[in-house]
Amino acid sequence: MFAQLFRTKPVEAHREGTGLKKCLSVVDLTLLGIGAIIGTGIFVLTGLAAAHQSGPAVVLSFVVSGIACAFAALAYAEMAASVGGCGSAYGYSYAAFGEIVAWVIGWILLLEYGVSVAAVANGWSGYFNNALSAIGLALPEQLTKAPSLGGVVNLPALMIILMLMIMLIIGVKQSAKLNAAMVFIKLLAISIFVAVASVNVHPANWHPFMPFGWYSTLPDGKTVGVLAGASMVFFAYVGFDAVSTAVEEAHNPQKDVPRGIIYSLAFCTLIYIIVSGLLTGIVPYTELGVSSPVAHALQLIGYNWASALVATGVIAGLTTVMLVLYYGLTRIIFAMSRDGLLSPFFSQVNPKTHTPVRVIVMCGIIVATIAGFIPLGELAELVNIGTLAAFVLVCGGVIMLRHRQPDLPRPFKNPLSPLFPILGMLSCGSLMGFLPSQTWLRFSVWLTIGVIVYFVYSMHHSKLKSA
Ligand code: ALA
Repeated sequence: MFAQLFRTKPVEAHREGTGLKKCLSVVDLTLLGIGAIIGTGIFVLTGLAAAHQSGPAVVLSFVVSGIACAFAALAYAEMAASVGGCGSAYGYSYAAFGEIVAWVIGWILLLEYGVSVAAVANGWSGYFNNALSAIGLALPEQLTKAPSLGGVVNLPALMIILMLMIMLIIGVKQSAKLNAAMVFIKLLAISIFVAVASVNVHPANWHPFMPFGWYSTLPDGKTVGVLAGASMVFFAYVGFDAVSTAVEEAHNPQKDVPRGIIYSLAFCTLIYIIVSGLLTGIVPYTELGVSSPVAHALQLIGYNWASALVATGVIAGLTTVMLVLYYGLTRIIFAMSRDGLLSPFFSQVNPKTHTPVRVIVMCGIIVATIAGFIPLGELAELVNIGTLAAFVLVCGGVIMLRHRQPDLPRPFKNPLSPLFPILGMLSCGSLMGFLPSQTWLRFSVWLTIGVIVYFVYSMHHSKLKSA
């Protein structure tokens, strides 16, 4: 039984042909990364974290989170190049730790990607409704809110997921093209903000710089300070790991996927530091606790035209986040199904489109339903805890695999191993520790369900069992 739980999947088996089409270049991969990374985190959470947790020191929260992600990104780069496979952290854990760990991490990734897509769809719907109202086409309120908020259905959130579903069915290259166009629009929006904000900074707004200190817990259980802010704005970095799910569709995966991961993370970290620094420099941080802080701050300093352009950029930006994370979700389910841990029904690739149509449709229907009927504010924190857990395991996997398979070809090598992977485990583990206890409780419930599913279904259907 013990041997069965910890059976590992040979690395060569991760490289078998799968029918997915190899069509992505390093530029596509970097743009996929930027597409998934820049979204709700910078456009919404920066303001909330500045107002309630970090003050102007939110820029430090981004630096702390960015450092933890950099260690994790190096670990992902090594694993993507040496182990490969579209299952990302799930596949790496299968090679390094064995089946039960792989299953748990795969289960966590389903939560990370599925909930992020639904949560971002809710944010997207808010901005989209505002834009419709501005041109006099407002939807009736019942059609913009989930039942528990007094509506009938959040129709825009549901519809955008179904539209992305069609896009992903059509093909990954076409999706990458759409992604590139919208990444361009969102970067344009950010450039407009940076240009306007950089000539409107009042250094007085940066004082006091750290009004909530480094870390403390309030009587109501809420956590504040730069480190609590870091574990919240971590959401802004979620997504660079999605690049690693594109390994099987990249032209030159061993070289380009590590580059795509590292380039996109480095670029976005720089953008986050600049934007958060400027945002707290143009208005007092106390003004930023709203759902659209970047657009709101521009309005406060009298730039309504820039505010409208930024809002348009946000709509495009959030679309790419959903597109890439939805794509990642389907590839992880595809990989788990191919290994027998989920039903084989999902590991069929459509011969015409070269995409896993069944899994795309199933995910589309489930995620669209969640997005349409459940308000997902708090569940977003679940995304952070799940993603951080995956990062810890991928860093640990680097150390484990170097020990178990020292001669495995590693086209990309983590510098200073095992120091960097250990620092990655410590920093990501600490960020998990700064999250509220409520989030830990929900996370434990999800894990328990996952373990039950494993013992009832996956363990008995695993391909390794029959191998
Ligand atoms: N990083 C993505 C965002 O901020 C998930 O929306």
